[in-house]
Amino acid sequence: MKTFQTIKELRAALKVNRLKDKTIALVPTMGNLHDGHMQLVRRAAKEADIVVTSIFVNPMQFSENEDLERYPKTLKEDQALLESNGCHYLFAPDALEMYPDGKRSQTQIEVSAISDILCGASRPGHFVGVATVVTKFFNIVQPDCAIFGAKDFQQLMVIKNMTRDLSSNITIIDEDIARAEDGLALSSRNGYLTEEERNVAPILYNTLLWAKNELQLGQKDLQEISEQAQKNLEQAGFKRDYFEIRSQVTLQTPEEDEAELVILAAAYLGKARLIDNIQINLTN
Ligand code: PAF
Repeated sequence: MKTFQTIKELRAALKVNRLKDKTIALVPTMGNLHDGHMQLVRRAAKEADIVVTSIFVNPMQFSENEDLERYPKTLKEDQALLESNGCHYLFAPDALEMYPDGKRSQTQIEVSAISDILCGASRPGHFVGVATVVTKFFNIVQPDCAIFGAKDFQQLMVIKNMTRDLSSNITIIDEDIARAEDGLALSSRNGYLTEEERNVAPILYNTLLWAKNELQLGQKDLQEISEQAQKNLEQAGFKRDYFEIRSQVTLQTPEEDEAELVILAAAYLGKARLIDNIQINLTN
């Protein structure tokens, strides 16, 4: 595996492959890689000839009071993991390479309607930062496809809507959520949890399963399910962010009798903000 820090070097390497008609898959990440990321890399290797992974802790998607400074950086370990999972090129630029004129004067991509709700309401500007950096990666790499994890369900929708709205021909592929044995969705931010909090953390997934079961039993009052779920989480030691049952298609409050739903949760546990979701189809 080769690591590149500059756009110019990466483009030169990709050009050689394109001339040989090789297809390219991109896995954008912020590093501190775990098995969830490796699942994305292995999927990329199935989808295309050449796998490019990017590692960039994107300052544009963090607001002032968030964890940008303490976000874990583990480049050496990440390189070893990527190499053994079939990645060909790692693109690991610094902020100057990505935002040479600073992030303030950077052209921004805003995906309307779904960027200001849920995680976007708790983290203002977050999805503008995500959409902008992903657009830049798409333009730099020009992949045939890009792989994203379904844990960040809203992010996935933002990117799918963005590619559709901008008439991009990059195929967006979503990969199932990777979970620990006790159900906790794998995330770099799990590393912020103390041992005690780590034992409590799977309750987030169990609460999603409980809500799914309520829906399957025919409970129609979505607000009541959400409120009860928030109370259960608070009792277990979480602090509230949101717990919502939404349309899988629009991410808005579902129409009556809409069958394809997604239950989304975000909650704080100690220093970590955890997110998770479950998709459910009520016709099955
Ligand atoms: O999901 C992430 O790790 C980031 O939001 C992404 C997609 C790499 C953009 O910085």
